[in-house]
Amino acid sequence: MRILSIVGNRPQFIKSAPLSLALRNRAEEVVLHTGQHYDHELSQVFFDELGLDPPKHRLEAGSGSHAEQTARMLPGIEAAVVEEKPDIVLVYGDTNSTLAGALAASKLRVPVAHVEAGLRSFDRTMPEELNRVLVDRVSSLLFAPSESAVSNLENEGITEGVHDVGDVMLDANLRLAPIARERSQALELAGVEPGGYALVTVHREANTREPALGRIVEGLNALEEPVVFPLHPRTAGAIESLGLQLAGHVHPRPPAGYLDFAALASQARVILTDSGGVQKEAYWYAVPCVSLRENTEWVETVATGWNRLVGTDPAAIAAAAREAGPGSDHPPLYGDGHAADLIADVLCTMEHA
Ligand code: UD1
Ligand code: UDP
Repeated sequence: MRILSIVGNRPQFIKSAPLSLALRNRAEEVVLHTGQHYDHELSQVFFDELGLDPPKHRLEAGSGSHAEQTARMLPGIEAAVVEEKPDIVLVYGDTNSTLAGALAASKLRVPVAHVEAGLRSFDRTMPEELNRVLVDRVSSLLFAPSESAVSNLENEGITEGVHDVGDVMLDANLRLAPIARERSQALELAGVEPGGYALVTVHREANTREPALGRIVEGLNALEEPVVFPLHPRTAGAIESLGLQLAGHVHPRPPAGYLDFAALASQARVILTDSGGVQKEAYWYAVPCVSLRENTEWVETVATGWNRLVGTDPAAIAAAAREAGPGSDHPPLYGDGHAADLIADVLCTMEHA
């Protein structure tokens, strides 16, 4: 079995780590990095920390409008598919790199396997939602993290090739979070104590412009505890260019590596975020989450009471953060930490089918 894996963004490097490990000795995997994320803190740090092999193919898609960025990836992915002749092209999540990988492979009639299939926020104003729908439509193997993701696919008439395997992010999380708490000095460096701070991430397109970003900052400025705020470069740029002022208790930090972020997230009193991955991680750490969004594709985190959707209203953000507490119960969500093995099993059985 010859697999070409397409990665390009921070969460994809993380998601690929457990699967690359599970495929080692069982399949030939070649990795292509689209270059969508290129700063050291958004890219190389994850290869170093997670022990990932350097990608064989590196494109330089960089930043730009959605169409421009996606288009810049296509010729390089197409060339790699032609050169590598994979049995399957593996794509992760819902970013423009995911879409480009799925599009290039399906046009060459190479089967696509989608890890994190079936997620839906039902909000087509999000660029990611379009990517999810389009990628699932052209995928032959759909690795869903939950029953609700399987139902979403069923509702769109997609039932062939669907496997409910859980979430590869949980695999990474279970393996690395305990090490992170032992080794990371991120809390000391941020000057905070376990359980004594809020952790915040913001990077969604809609939240990094006005009026949303100003409202989020106003909400954070109204909190009464230290706020650790690792800044995605787009958010850092927007705060500066819009002239937004962070209050003294809000500590801007560079983007964290995986281990530092795991240490910060697992020991926060509350997490405020518009990230998809961070909502799940908050749940797995049993840290209450306030989502700076009106909807989520990770609906189970809300249904169990551990995650509240508040959007960008400053008063609602401050109130939800203040009141944040444990949910009603804490059932296991998104698998049992063996999603990568299950995916590798399916991929490697295909070969003998
Ligand atoms: C992208 C994904 C998003 C995912 C996120 C993970 C899409 C449409 N969006 O969002 O789904 O949640 O990655 O983190 O694919 N920039 C830098 N350095 C970098 C990369 C980006 O400074 O290494 C800045 C540039 O100004 C760029 C902006 O961040 O224009 C946005 O980057 P982009 O990759 O387009 O989107 P993300 O917000 O990172
Ligand atoms: N993350 C990180 N450092 C940070 C912020 C997030 O390592 O400063 C990790 C986080 O632990 C999670 C992943 O990045 O595993 C989530 O990625 P992101 O929020 O960029 O994208 P999304 O999940 O929304 O697609």
